[in-house]
Amino acid sequence: MARTVIRGGTVVTATETTSADVLIDGEKIVAIAAHDVHDWTTGADRVIDAAGKYVIPGAIDIHTHFELPFGGTFVSDNFESGTRAAAYGGTTTIVDFAVQVKGERIMDGFETWMRKAEGNCAIDYGFHMIVGDVNDESLKEMAIIVGDGVTSFKLFMAYPGVLYSDDGEIYRAMQQAAENGTTIMMHAENGIIIDVLREQAVGRGETDPKYHTTTRPPATESEAVHRAIALAELAGVPLYVVHMSAKEGVHELTLARDRGLNVFGETCPQYLFLNWEDHVSAPGFEGAKYVCSTPIRPRSEGHQEYLWNALARDDLQIVSTDHAGFFYDDDETMGRQKRLGEGNFTLIPNGLPGVEERLNVMYQGGVIEGRISLNRWVEVCSTAPAKMFGMYPAKGTIAVGSDADIVVYDPEASFTYSAETIHMNVDYSAYDGMEINGKPDTVLSRGKVVVENDRYVGRKGDGRYLKRGPSQLLR
Ligand code: URP
Ligand code: ZN
Ligand code: ZN
Repeated sequence: MARTVIRGGTVVTATETTSADVLIDGEKIVAIAAHDVHDWTTGADRVIDAAGKYVIPGAIDIHTHFELPFGGTFVSDNFESGTRAAAYGGTTTIVDFAVQVKGERIMDGFETWMRKAEGNCAIDYGFHMIVGDVNDESLKEMAIIVGDGVTSFKLFMAYPGVLYSDDGEIYRAMQQAAENGTTIMMHAENGIIIDVLREQAVGRGETDPKYHTTTRPPATESEAVHRAIALAELAGVPLYVVHMSAKEGVHELTLARDRGLNVFGETCPQYLFLNWEDHVSAPGFEGAKYVCSTPIRPRSEGHQEYLWNALARDDLQIVSTDHAGFFYDDDETMGRQKRLGEGNFTLIPNGLPGVEERLNVMYQGGVIEGRISLNRWVEVCSTAPAKMFGMYPAKGTIAVGSDADIVVYDPEASFTYSAETIHMNVDYSAYDGMEINGKPDTVLSRGKVVVENDRYVGRKGDGRYLKRGPSQLLR
């Protein structure tokens, strides 16, 4: 068993900031002590000098889509490229979405995604299950799959005819999840109304990418959030609303949380840093790079400030990426992706790449620019995701007995994001031109160094499937 010492750093968890050395034996953290109280370096296989650096739990991205068939193409990252890029960015665990499509069994969808991931991941991984066909059989399977460590199910109020569930289906799935002690994740947008607005916009000749946002106004999100909360309360199930971008939706969530309900929300960096005016409305077809759902909203409507404040106050609990990258320009291997929607924004595949940048952009925009504390940064990127989705304390903290998923983070490093500085399988960074003053220096996954000196030194297949338990964030 290899013994590693991380020496001289500042250990930052969701609750504490301490000067401490960390001793790792094999895959686990076995001791934490004030600097040099113990001479752990003698007999160590490896000593990592963390002087002047933060030692934080590996980031956890509980919302990624690798190898997902979507919008007439496939998300451009597979589990190999996606998890490797995640590791470069300091993320040591991802939870992706296995998909049950109409007419298919839940177990078939789960096994398909297990096969895609197995032997390919650089870091540990788990699955939520997208329930795309609620029926008697799939309701039974929702109970069975808990035994495989799938304890969260995503439903869609958007995308009619594809993944959409009506209120009756949603309610039945919620009742089942309540019985199993699992969590419902909701894509909360009123897809029926959005389809009307899209058809009317295209009829008026409004076909540019910028109309993706105007046909998904805030009320289509907040109405769905309100309805999802009402149904979840009725069913008595914990609810987690994914990719929230509208302040009106977060307001609904806050009202429900203030009533003591087990409802939770995430936002994503694209909603905290990008806006409709500069990005989605960019000249020509450039705005297609920023087409995702829920949409990136107008700066003039004040959503961003509201989201940051909600994160700081714990009205929102988690920042994940909803990583779903598509090439902007046609790619030799992936073919036409974003450009499928040239001349008709409704055909642009929805989604943004981002699994690599999250920890860094949140450090820059959150910690350096004074919107959240260092500890809150760790909490929203690692600890809360681990607790929300049943992985704590093996993941999400630095404690004796926890997995040695650790990032030695250098606050003195600086670089600028561009298509050239990313490792995801895509031809742009959504944060192109953003200067970052901080960077993962060394990344460990269960005690093994996987990134050092800007180089990936792990192997595909190092990542292990994580059986998750019930949520540990319930009130
Ligand atoms: O635009 C998005 N969000 N694409 C990924 C699929 C989803 O709805 O999460
Ligand atoms: Zn979604
Ligand atoms: Zn998603």
